Amino acid sequence: MNKPDWIRIAPVTDIPVREGRAVKIGDLEVAIFNLGSDFVAIENRCPHKGGPLADGIVSTLGDSVTVTCPLHNWRVCIDTGAVRKPSAQNACVRTFAVRIKDGLVMISKAPAAAEQEAAA
Ligand code: FES
Repeated sequence: MNKPDWIRIAPVTDIPVREGRAVKIGDLEVAIFNLGSDFVAIENRCPHKGGPLADGIVSTLGDSVTVTCPLHNWRVCIDTGAVRKPSAQNACVRTFAVRIKDGLVMISKAPAAAEQEAAA
């Protein structure tokens, strides 16, 4: 498997705990979240009507950490990208691999799961 190309985003201190930040990488807009012990990244476009997920509230829903879309309150799991509420939706946003190096948040356009497989 090819190793992902890592893109420098920002110092870790620029993203407060339990908040998100939107970044553009070419045509792609990504929402990066600081979960305190971890950073995660998902597509910054709600699957409902394109709301900016980086501006949503991060909270827990069952065993998932979700972000609530600021437009109509859909809740998206920020680990898997799957919509958790409304539960009848079978929608998903893309996830991206994140790593921290030298105090910088870096992301790859590779899916988060692909990075975990490459590291194994
Ligand atoms: S655009 Fe996100 S819930 Fe409607």
